[in-house]
Amino acid sequence: MIRARGLTKTFSRRKETVEAVKGIDVDVAEGELVAFLGPNGAGKSTTLRMLTSLLEPTAGEATVAGYDVVAHPAQVRARLGFIGQGNGGGFSYKVVDELHNQGRFYGLAPEVYKERAADLMAALELGGLEKRSVQSLSGGQRRRLDVALGLMNHPPLLFLDEPTTGLDPHSRANLWGHITAMRERYGMTVVLTTHYLDEADSMAERVVVIDHGEIIADAAPGVLKRRHADDSLTLVVATDDGAAVRAALPDDLGDAELTAHGTGLQVRVRTAQGAEELPVVIEALRVAGITTTSASARQASLDDVFLNLTGRSLREEAAA
Ligand SMILES: Nc1ncnc2c1ncn2[C@@H]1O[C@H](COP(=O)(O)OP(=O)(O)O)[C@@H](O)[C@H]1O
Ligand SMILES: [Mg+2]
Repeated sequence: MIRARGLTKTFSRRKETVEAVKGIDVDVAEGELVAFLGPNGAGKSTTLRMLTSLLEPTAGEATVAGYDVVAHPAQVRARLGFIGQGNGGGFSYKVVDELHNQGRFYGLAPEVYKERAADLMAALELGGLEKRSVQSLSGGQRRRLDVALGLMNHPPLLFLDEPTTGLDPHSRANLWGHITAMRERYGMTVVLTTHYLDEADSMAERVVVIDHGEIIADAAPGVLKRRHADDSLTLVVATDDGAAVRAALPDDLGDAELTAHGTGLQVRVRTAQGAEELPVVIEALRVAGITTTSASARQASLDDVFLNLTGRSLREEAAA
């Protein structure tokens, strides 16, 4: 559905040049849901704008829905829905008028766009809000309306730029639910961007991590965590004999950090598969005559992945 090679965008403003996107290669298959994850300024919006033909690449090429984005922008646009960052649209319009206008924009017949609008309002929990002005909607309702607008032409491919930004966690999860439901319903391919690690982690099947205009990782969240970050185990043992603890721990574990904990020791180790390794460690300690009094495994997060790949914490950047 998408094939991009060496996609590059350099902006020149005054004396400065900004390499916003530095030669991205990416393929998205039909029906995939892909999340582009990266901090502010990473180049996510610029990438989406090139893939939707809104912005001409400085170099490289992209084929989207079968058409080259530079040579055939109209054909590309006819096959996609695009919901840009922040909300567009007339503030004082009524919800239903926004949807109908969108239908007219796509050249749909009145009976078609009216039916679609009604259908999408029901599907996206906007029923009863037909006559409300767009500006009176809540943040979550606004974004669901944006999604409805993007779906009026039943595109095979939907782009959403930071659809959940600014929403509370409940509304974010709700919107993801709707996006995945719409994708099932229409068999769509969906490409969205986010800077929220937790939602990319829990919701996305595939995460393309982008930083400083480059793709630095591309896989399922579980795979990224296995490849680029370790889980950690924390145990408390009843002995203060550090040498005995180290000797008892399985060899394939990394170096253990031991700290005094009451009359015993706290043991911290990193491992690829924490949940599986924890009982093995407890058993190894037991065999060596060491009693474990508490134990927990912490799974690596996508933040650990980002930190290990870039040396920076995306969580802190997002908060800053
Ligand atoms: N029209 C523009 N002119 C100059 N610089 C731009 C323009 N659009 C984006 N940039 C710069 O390109 C970089 C990537 O921006 P953007 O794609 O919006 O990132 P993201 O969406 O990941 O936050 C940033 O450094 C941004 O300031
Ligand atoms: Mg952006």
